Amino acid sequence: MESPPFIPHCDEQRFTACEYDRWLSRNTLSARWVRFWFSPRRILWLNTPISTLPRAAGISSSDRILDVGCGYGGVLLYLRRILGGVPGAASGWEGLDNSSLMVQRAREEIGQRGLEKDIRITEGIATKLPYGDGAFDVILSGYMVKHLSDDRLRDMIREVKRVMKPGGRFCVWEAIPSRFGFMNVWNLKLLRVGVSVIHMRTAKEIRVLLEEEGFVIRQPFGHGLYYFYPPLPRAGFIAVRPSS
Ligand SMILES: C[S@@+](CC[C@H](N)C(=O)[O-])C[C@H]1O[C@@H](n2cnc3c(N)ncnc32)[C@H](O)[C@@H]1O
Repeated sequence: MESPPFIPHCDEQRFTACEYDRWLSRNTLSARWVRFWFSPRRILWLNTPISTLPRAAGISSSDRILDVGCGYGGVLLYLRRILGGVPGAASGWEGLDNSSLMVQRAREEIGQRGLEKDIRITEGIATKLPYGDGAFDVILSGYMVKHLSDDRLRDMIREVKRVMKPGGRFCVWEAIPSRFGFMNVWNLKLLRVGVSVIHMRTAKEIRVLLEEEGFVIRQPFGHGLYYFYPPLPRAGFIAVRPSS
């Protein structure tokens, strides 16, 4: 596992938020690149397996859903589009992100579609979720957990468990190391273009952390092909909070 750069006097999560804000607000090629790909219109290119997620995780429009590290809100908007729902009558979908620029962008995207009553976006950190116990049926987190150290990721998983109903599903996916060692130098360079705090974990390491915190892995998810394919293997899991 790669160790992150030393960050003096700064909480890891706040530091990441500052880096995303700085990166997104620039006019560099990489900032334009990331704004292009984070747009909800291209969400399937980066998160291809979400097209199979409703069936795989048994998600319906009446479920209460939270996306932790929601970025521009693209995954929530995609699910809303394919699952449908009566405007104004949604069951309280939420997105949370620690970058204020991401939050602003997500609110704009949601507002442009007239869904601000249905999908609420909150600025906050993954290890301190501002929601009540047992509030959600489904919690999503795409490409976020690499920004947390093992201790913080454990804190996040505990928080996810707390705000999830018994029997709820945690759907988490992330970039993982390549089985070709020489590719990892390049992959890490790619992932660190705008944000330096990256903790690469194997699929097994992510799985073990989830299981140690009491989740039961229902099935691997998202190990297949992605439409947009930088040489980054990815893995994901649907993890269930047991009923008792
Ligand atoms: C690679 S982006 C993925 C965004 C979105 N899930 C997607 O797939 O389009 C990671 C997101 O996680 C957010 N993030 C990183 N660390 C976080 C933390 N500790 N708490 C909340 N959000 C965090 C970042 O601001 C960023 O929006």
